[in-house]
Amino acid sequence: MPEHPSHARKRKLLLRAAAKVNLHLRVAPPDESGYHPLMSWMCTVGLFDTLTLERAEGDEQIGPAAPDRAAADALVHLECDDPSLPRDKTNLAVRAAIAVIDALRSEQQTPRQSWPHNQPLLRIWLEKRIPVGGGLGGGSADAARVLLGLNRLLELNWPIDRIRAIAATLGSDVPFFLEGPSGVVTGRGQVVRPLPPPRPRWVVLVLPGYGIPTRDVYRTFDELRLGDRQAVDAQPDWNQWTELSAGPLMQRLINDLEPAAFALCPRLANLRQQLEQALARPVRMSGSGSSLFTLFDNFDEAQDAVARITNSWPVKALATSVAPAPEDDLADQAN
Ligand code: C5P
Repeated sequence: MPEHPSHARKRKLLLRAAAKVNLHLRVAPPDESGYHPLMSWMCTVGLFDTLTLERAEGDEQIGPAAPDRAAADALVHLECDDPSLPRDKTNLAVRAAIAVIDALRSEQQTPRQSWPHNQPLLRIWLEKRIPVGGGLGGGSADAARVLLGLNRLLELNWPIDRIRAIAATLGSDVPFFLEGPSGVVTGRGQVVRPLPPPRPRWVVLVLPGYGIPTRDVYRTFDELRLGDRQAVDAQPDWNQWTELSAGPLMQRLINDLEPAAFALCPRLANLRQQLEQALARPVRMSGSGSSLFTLFDNFDEAQDAVARITNSWPVKALATSVAPAPEDDLADQAN
């Protein structure tokens, strides 16, 4: 009997990975391991990378063709329209795919020997639109989409907890992107509690055109002896916060990494100060920078702000939606 089309095995998936902003980010001094416990309200925004995942033809099993890790790397082939991006396993999208392959192998779910050594099992085409080093979680968003995409493409039917465990090994922002579009993230980023998106549904993103390495920001944070454990442990009244309009909500939002990023990068501090003056509203940094944002209740106002920013500063700015609806080949899933 012919297979119903909706059950036919797909060879290709088109995925859209949305960026995030940290609306609110509280950071504690480092624990014994040097890592900083945090508490953050994160929300996706309408700036997307696009990934196409393609399974190779033929026997699609991830055969243990070669026992070593180098061969696992060779099974994943990444192409990207941004030549400055690494395409090897230092790219988080590749690392995510390798993590899935490694997990399959360690479970010996892949008994067949037929996969040829030198043939990629999986091709990934990445159209990079989320700036690198911008505090918008682009690499993590890509990685999370790859994890969910492979679960579908390879028909793994893994429960979400299994995918969450892999996500947590890839980076502190990755678990959030499995859940999206809005949630409170705690610990090392591995605990994500869904929260309704903020009431203002528009955001202006300011992309200064240079990145700031996350590691350097945390190092400066320690040098400046910043961080407050109590602020990380205390939770605001989220139900009230999600109801606030743009003005009063922006007044409450804090990013504890700002002093460290601004100490490292004084021109970003200047830009933020000038933008706050020109727009007469708070402007916050996302994550460890360099991107800045401010929320709007109304799209026309947001667009007007973009025009004013791009007329006066040599930066990119865009007005886009907060918590956009997912529109890709995984859109029928909860995440
Ligand atoms: O996990 P992620 O890739 O975002 O972290 C990059 C680096 O930033 C980590 O290796 C660590 O040095 C630092 N970091 C930290 N505490 C956090 C998040 C990141 O010390 N909560």
